[in-house]
Amino acid sequence: MRSTRLTWDPPENALAAVARAAAAGGALLDLTDSNPTVVGLPYPTRALAAALARAPLADYRPAPLGLPSARAAVAADYARAGVAVDPDRIVLTASSSESYGFLFKLCCDPGDVVLVPEPSYPLFEYLARLEGVVPLGYRLAFDGVWHIDFASIGETLATARRAGQRPRALIVVNPNNPTGSFIKRDELARLAALCGETDLALISDEVFAPYPSGPDRARVSTVALEPLFEAAGPAFSLGGLSKASGLPQLKLGWIVVGGREASNSVAALELIADTYLSVATPVQAALGDLLALGAEVRAAITTRIAQNRAALTEALPPTSACTLLPAEGGWSAILRLPASLSDEAWATALIVEDHVLTHPGYFFDLRGGTFLVVSLLPRPELFRTAIARLVARVDVALR
Ligand SMILES: Cc1ncc(COP(=O)(O)O)c(C=O)c1O
Repeated sequence: MRSTRLTWDPPENALAAVARAAAAGGALLDLTDSNPTVVGLPYPTRALAAALARAPLADYRPAPLGLPSARAAVAADYARAGVAVDPDRIVLTASSSESYGFLFKLCCDPGDVVLVPEPSYPLFEYLARLEGVVPLGYRLAFDGVWHIDFASIGETLATARRAGQRPRALIVVNPNNPTGSFIKRDELARLAALCGETDLALISDEVFAPYPSGPDRARVSTVALEPLFEAAGPAFSLGGLSKASGLPQLKLGWIVVGGREASNSVAALELIADTYLSVATPVQAALGDLLALGAEVRAAITTRIAQNRAALTEALPPTSACTLLPAEGGWSAILRLPASLSDEAWATALIVEDHVLTHPGYFFDLRGGTFLVVSLLPRPELFRTAIARLVARVDVALR
């Protein structure tokens, strides 16, 4: 007996089967790896171990929103980036995925709608469905830069209402994965107006905000703290150790609560968090040290991303039929390929012929072209070799 929240036995993704078969004949060069702990980055492991060893192990005093010292440590980390956050507005969770779960429980009844950006992070479908909530997409458009397609938000809201569904929250990923685009000031004003008019909460996933690249074109970094939302509606910004400090294994995320009725939202989140009490005490006790040490890991990740992005630019001369889309942040790069093959066919050919693993664009709902998405985290030698094979594959196909 199973719920109908998910399709529990989905057919295996065709590309995954091809990759498994190809991997049997020798290791693939994996350009999809976005786990920072397995790509040869220097971690201050001794100092991390010492920080965790200092945490009291036989002392448990449940604090649903997180230990006051840990919430203060997150606020201090924002302060280091020049952002003032009241620790009372910070709620700790075990991950961003759990933050979404808490916020869907807070904002939605079963069957309610959350609007999710497309292209974006493929996990939304699961995160929403597992909470009994319906994810409906709205588009981001690319015309040299990425921006929110506000007309498509209107269409999605109308579709939901025609189906008798109640839209309750709109998600932005800031900067988005994989487009790397930040929310801009003018978009923020339109989002606030929209949330106010249509009674939507805004959830801004800012896990990649510590990784800006390129010029700052009026980007907004902590949406929940924007004064525009004080009247418009509830607003939440998500962050976490997994990306900010490259420490996904320590399982700690946070929600910055802002916007209208922020203290009521914190009180309601406290009730939800008290039901689970999911964040382990030692990681909370060590959080100040972990965030400080995380700065080193973050610097190493930033260097790696810049190095691999430079390698991509170098490997793709302006005459190449494969082009790199511009990005303002994040850990991914999007490559536009000739439309002579579908994204899946390019990804398959790369696996079978070249032993290179990439994500086809459809995986992230990229449309309007033929795209592959690659992670910028892999080891530079592997990255360069794999990209050279990809460029050669495009050249061969066009000959
Ligand atoms: C946009 C976005 N949000 C959240 C996450 C996951 O974060 P966490 O490990 O804190 O659940 C990811 C992981 O890749 C992501 O791409």
